[in-house]
Parts: sequence; C-alpha cells; structure tokens
Amino acid sequence: TPDSATASPISGIIKSVQFLPYPNVAFQTVPSKSIPFQQPMPLTSFSYDSQHTQEFNDSALRYYRPPPPNAQLGYGYEHWIRRPEERSRVDSLLKAVDRVTEGQHKKMNLAEVGVVAWRGVVTRLLTAPYEDREGWEMNVMLINGTLYLEEHRTETQIMEKNNIKPQHRKMMYYGYAFESYCTTEHSRPSHDSDASGWGGHVDTNIQWCSVVRTKLGDTKFIIGGEVDCSNGQYKGTTDTFIELKTSMVIRGAADEEKFERKLLKFYFQSFLLGVPKIIVGFRTPSGQLTTTQSFQTMQIPRMLREKSVHKTHKTNATPWNPSLCLAWCHQFLTYLKQTVVQDSDDDPSHQKDSVKEEVNRGHSPTSTTVWRVSFVPREGAR
Ligand code: A3P
Ligand code: MG
Ligand code: MG
Repeated sequence: TPDSATASPISGIIKSVQFLPYPNVAFQTVPSKSIPFQQPMPLTSFSYDSQHTQEFNDSALRYYRPPPPNAQLGYGYEHWIRRPEERSRVDSLLKAVDRVTEGQHKKMNLAEVGVVAWRGVVTRLLTAPYEDREGWEMNVMLINGTLYLEEHRTETQIMEKNNIKPQHRKMMYYGYAFESYCTTEHSRPSHDSDASGWGGHVDTNIQWCSVVRTKLGDTKFIIGGEVDCSNGQYKGTTDTFIELKTSMVIRGAADEEKFERKLLKFYFQSFLLGVPKIIVGFRTPSGQLTTTQSFQTMQIPRMLREKSVHKTHKTNATPWNPSLCLAWCHQFLTYLKQTVVQDSDDDPSHQKDSVKEEVNRGHSPTSTTVWRVSFVPREGAR
C-alpha cells in the first residue's frame, strides 16, 4: 500500500513487498552453489564527534588495550551521555560514498556499485534465515542501478528504544563500559593517564566508522559501519580492527547453545567490515567482568562445526550455516532488483538528482519511489 515516508534521502512513495524466511526445508539443505564473498577493502573512514557531527578524519578512533581483570561494568553509569535513538538515516554514509565515487578522492565508479547500506542492514539480511524473534522493515530505492537500503523504524519503535526499562538500559551500558575499559585514545598504551584502565566516560555520540567495498557473488557493495577499535596504528587496512562484545558468563549447556547462536550476529557483523578479531568480555548478571575470550572471525564457523562433532546429544548439527545465509541474501537481492527495477527506472537521471540534492542541501526529494520491505520472523510466519 502506498504511504509517505519522511525526512530521509530515501523518501517518496512507498510500495510494499513482504518477505517471509525460507521455507523450513531450506534450513536442512546446504545450498548447492556457494556464493563467494570478497574480503572487504576500506575506502574511507570518518568520525562522529561529541555533537555527533560527521568529520572526515580519525579523531574518534580508539586503540585496543586489555581490560583490567574483574572490571566493574557498571562504573560511570551516571555519567553516560546517551545519544537518543532516531530514524536510522543513510545521509552520512551517502556523503562518504560521494567522496569515494567522485572528485579527487575517487576510488570507484558508482555505476559499478550494486548495493549501498549500513552494516546493520546487511547483517539483518544475512541473519534473516535464522531470525525467529525480531521482524524488521527496510526502505529500498534503486537509482541508476544501485540499490540503497535503509532500516525503517516506526515512531513507536523509536519511542520504545528511548524508553527502555532501567534494567535493560543498565545491561546496554555494560557493553559500552567494556569498550571504555578496552580502549584508549593513544595507539601506544604507555601514554595512558588512567592507571585503573578506565578509558573515560561513555559518550555514545562519538563513533568511528569505516566504509568498505566488497562483493557478494557478482554484486559490488559499499558498506559502512562502526569499528570499536584498532589493535595498534591504523594503516588503512582492516587487519588491526577489533570488535568488542559482552555476554553473560556461560554456566551450562543451555547457556553455551545460546551463546553459539549469538555468534551468528557477531560473525556477520564483523565479517562485513573485514574485522578479523572479536573480543568477548563475559560478565556476571550484575556487570562484573569475569573472563575475556578472543575469536578469529573467519574461524568461527569451523570452530562451531568442530565443536558439534564432539557433542553427544544435540538437536541439529551446527547452530547455523554461513553459506545458507549468503545464498539467502544473494537470492533476496536478485529478487529485489527484479521487483524494484520497473518502477524506479522511469526517470533515473531525475531521481539521481533528487538524492544528490538531498545530500547536498538537506532537501527532501519528491519524485522517487521507495519500496518498503518487511521481514516477518519465522515464529510470526507460523
Ligand atoms: P554489547 O554487544 O557488548 O552488549 P556493538 O557491539 O555493536 O559495538 O555495540 C556496542 C553496544 O551497544 C552493545 O554492547 C550494546 O550494549 C549496545 N547495542 C548495540 N546494538 C544494540 C541493539 N540492537 N539493541 C540494544 N543494544 C544494542
Ligand atoms: Mg560497535
Ligand atoms: Mg562492539
């Protein structure tokens, strides 16, 4: 049903297309053809400062250092400067795309790019076959052969995210506090002023983002996303990137299975930006760090396969299969290109200008067609 979207480069008349996950049979089937995924290469990076203003520099980049043992992740909670949740807009990513596809910094041809999106959106696409809880909606626009994907949040969803229960809010903070304990502003830790290991109070306005190029099958992607820190000096390559995560301590088989399912999101989130290492801080329910464990991103699927061989009673062989996810995403994008194409190709040059205009002057285009994609999780589909 047509609807009007608001305030984003991706705005205009909404057409809906609804997605259900693969039929269940696909979950037992390994796709016959594996879809290759190219190692992501950084194109540019940028920072958001404490006002959440985008700057094309690395001022917000943080460096890794090990956290102090038994760190208390509730520390500094009352000083948390929390960025309010809002519409997840693609504006700042488009500015980065402009920089790398035009002018003196030109590194690639926009005409070759099949998909532009934030990493979070692509993670949702890739993990959809195993998602049985959370549905999502996405705005899609096709301009000169490039699909622009953007998460769609309703006003209610935004309000809910800004009014989460204190208990949940505290748990969210633990994740950021772990980041503070694990990072410093200096690439050489000897410069640290705070011997306690605390990296400074949490301000979630501040972020460092990497924008990479990669390829799924024969579709080229430009993907942007936050990188938590670098292990030593950043040299413009992904090999020093580290993703930081927290998780509850594992107390038994049920916890372990839950954690292994969680690794699916950790894996793809990191994989998409080429982040080779994930450091997980395990914590107690009340936020005390107990242990940290580091995972090589690319080894996670094999690690789970090898573990599953040694399990005696199990319901399924491995909790998830990354090839299935890549195949699903590839099929989804193929379908999307076929579906969205007729309608958006009426006057591509004009639409292109509309987006450009929005990026440059903050105007809302009026002539573009936006498709709304809804994903209904397995549970809801039953
Ligand atoms: P943890 O993941 O350690 O719990 P990221 O891990 O993506 O760098 O995000 C940092 C922290 O932001 C997370 O720490 C979590 O607290 C919070 N966060 C990220 N995505 C979230 C989501 N979808 N819902 C709630 N909190 C989220
Ligand atoms: Mg992060
Ligand atoms: Mg993280």
